[in-house]
Amino acid sequence: MKKFVLSVLTALLLVTGSGGIAGAAQEKIVVAHRGASGYLPEHTLAAKAMAYAMGADYIEQDVVMTKDDKLVVLHDHYLDRVTNVAEVYPERKREDGRYYVIDFTLDEIKQLEMTEGFDVQDGESVPNFPGRFPLWQSSFTVHTLEEELELIQGLNKSTGQNVGIYPEIKAPWFHRHEGKDISLAVLQVLENYGYDSKDDKVYVQCFDPNETKRIRTELYPQLQMDPKLVQLMAETSWNETMVYENGKAVPYNYDWMFEKGAMKEIATYADGVGPWHPMIVKSESTRDHLIITDLVKEAHAAGMEVHPYTFRLDSGQIPAYAASFEELLDIFYYTAGVDGLFTDFPDRAVEFLNRAQYHSKGYDKK
Ligand code: G3P
Ligand code: CA
Repeated sequence: MKKFVLSVLTALLLVTGSGGIAGAAQEKIVVAHRGASGYLPEHTLAAKAMAYAMGADYIEQDVVMTKDDKLVVLHDHYLDRVTNVAEVYPERKREDGRYYVIDFTLDEIKQLEMTEGFDVQDGESVPNFPGRFPLWQSSFTVHTLEEELELIQGLNKSTGQNVGIYPEIKAPWFHRHEGKDISLAVLQVLENYGYDSKDDKVYVQCFDPNETKRIRTELYPQLQMDPKLVQLMAETSWNETMVYENGKAVPYNYDWMFEKGAMKEIATYADGVGPWHPMIVKSESTRDHLIITDLVKEAHAAGMEVHPYTFRLDSGQIPAYAASFEELLDIFYYTAGVDGLFTDFPDRAVEFLNRAQYHSKGYDKK
């Protein structure tokens, strides 16, 4: 495993040369979404090393907690979309058929093989993105938050770069319901690894507004830390955040975030927002008529940064209003004016920003 990570990095260094690893030198940033997840299975150490070598400014970690209170880097609080848990521990699913990270110890999770995201349809594993790295090829495992921070800090030392981290506290409402304070645990790890102020290259992100407020008003003062904090934005219908009412989980209502004045309200506790990209450029936009909301303008007026998600190259993922991935990046970085964005293809965004910087937007339209 270690050997494989290093070979990915070495190969990329050879391909990209020092220009690649130097990354985007401009203020606008590229966040590698779950690593270079367009090329290697999401949230594997290999995908993180690849994103690093591609010159991403920040690398994302989604974080969930195990039964024995360890923090692991996984997008879902389930194991079944990216591992062979159903094969190794068939009897450990809950009534809803899902295998919960919180029901397994780290040692048990370390026994699993990790792969590209997939769904099971008619008994067959079907990849979420068919054009990406093939299912079950090579060998990948789940790792801890600490292991990933050590990888990034190790590379920062060996390359002389200073690539940042972008940890997301996943489903704090669920962890709390299961008796665990995931936010406190994540912040303690960040503090141990030296990420404790706004000068450090870290953004802490969370979808749950109640928890984001708690982090700012309760946990940061308690731990005497103050890293930049990003409020992620969701549609209520996604059930991304739940609240318990009389013991029953109901969706948190995000509607207020789309009202006038919402950015001012968020700015009372956060340094930035992470919206879904159609919240900035509406999906019904056309090449001749972009419909851009006031979100970026209002967030900037309130003193916040804006980092939308998620920009992908896969078939069907580029909205019809953009003729290419680069045109899409141009619309967001320079027409809508975002400060950074999350992408599964960090090499393309790094290259785009480098060209835009050097040629004052006179780059070739691909
Ligand atoms: O955290 C922002 C970005 O990662 C989008 O959300 O669902 O991929 O964690 P998600
Ligand atoms: Ca995330």
